[in-house]
Amino acid sequence: MRQAVENSNLISLAAGFVDSESLPSGEVSAALDELLATPQSAQAALQYGTTQGYAPLREKLLARVTALDGLSSRDMAVSPDDVVVTTGSQQLLYLVSELLLDPGDYVLTEAPSYFVYQAALASLGVRTLSVPIDRDGMNTDALEERLGQLERAGELDRLRLIYVCDYFQNPSGLSLSLGRRHRLLELVKRFSRERRIFILEDAAYRELCYDGPDLPSIKSLDRENAYVILGLSFSKSFAPGLKTGYGLLPRELVAPFLRLKGNDDFGSNNLTQHLLDRVLASGAYDRQVAALRQVYAAKRDLLLGALAREFSDWPDVRWTRPTGGLYVWVTFSSDFDTGPQGPMMPAAVKEGVLYVPGQFCYVGDPNSPVPTNEARLSFGIVKPDQIEEAVRRLARAARAHDHEADSAAAKSQPILM
Ligand SMILES: Cc1ncc(COP(=O)(O)O)c(C=O)c1O
Repeated sequence: MRQAVENSNLISLAAGFVDSESLPSGEVSAALDELLATPQSAQAALQYGTTQGYAPLREKLLARVTALDGLSSRDMAVSPDDVVVTTGSQQLLYLVSELLLDPGDYVLTEAPSYFVYQAALASLGVRTLSVPIDRDGMNTDALEERLGQLERAGELDRLRLIYVCDYFQNPSGLSLSLGRRHRLLELVKRFSRERRIFILEDAAYRELCYDGPDLPSIKSLDRENAYVILGLSFSKSFAPGLKTGYGLLPRELVAPFLRLKGNDDFGSNNLTQHLLDRVLASGAYDRQVAALRQVYAAKRDLLLGALAREFSDWPDVRWTRPTGGLYVWVTFSSDFDTGPQGPMMPAAVKEGVLYVPGQFCYVGDPNSPVPTNEARLSFGIVKPDQIEEAVRRLARAARAHDHEADSAAAKSQPILM
């Protein structure tokens, strides 16, 4: 961030920010004008709201979530009383974790995983275990093995939560396959013994889907509304500045969650909730999501096209081809070092491009190795006409890495006489 501020020529493929030019200023301005036009609606929006969130908004959110899965609220055993509105989905992640976890408890996450949540877990004194992902998302065979290990060690009751970002994951861009969604839920049911293990399903990117099949949420498979906490957000699909997220919780968690949230803020920004209620009712939200899908699909294609061109003579370099979300995950050859101590990072800064070193997305699970040859690229905030140049710079930085690695190797060669 500091580098980007100090060097205006720098192109950032690092920040998880959204496309600035397509932010819905017209829609927000129209909804706000409407809201403030009559004393009645203005007063309702400018007064304190409830801790749980504006009831008409919660109804619309529930209708939206169930419609995404092609189900009714009765099918999913949920009602608007199970919906909580939060200050971004980050608050939901944090409060759920604070609610369920004691210091020393375990959380299982994907490796790699969303690093801001990892930091939140660390602040709660929780131990994180990780399960590797592949092209179908979290490897559920490896998960089963992990659960078995915990059981054999007599520590299963310290595991309360499995966190998955199952749509176009931050950082890899990959999604959890349908088969694994079923398997994950089945494993959680099977291993919930004295205490229930919850799945924290982070679907922050769900609505940013471009051309892949839309997968049902894990929540929609949990027909008793017992095991899955679903988190969603308006940040990526509308405007992060509104900082509004929401969750669909198993009934037993709602009251304790609201007690915690009440202590924290007794309700998220009420004006924003009234505004989003109007934006959903008028169809402006749907129009915005449809427009964003086009914007991001085009940017993703530019990024993938540029990678294919610039790295065509690098057979060892691979990258994901996400069908939604904002991220592409690049894997260099195993001897490559994308980290802050390696030669590529300073070379990239010198060339004027930023990426997130992949190692930042791995948690300190002592049993899992941390690869240092990966990078997260985001096509969120970068301007379309800068994408090609950004990848050209990245390729130059990668070549500088190779050059430096070669000369280091040459220097360390024994002198043959
Ligand atoms: C996977 C994931 N979850 C949650 C969040 C939190 O977003 P917000 O609090 O703005 O809803 C982010 C933000 O980047 C994210 O990438």
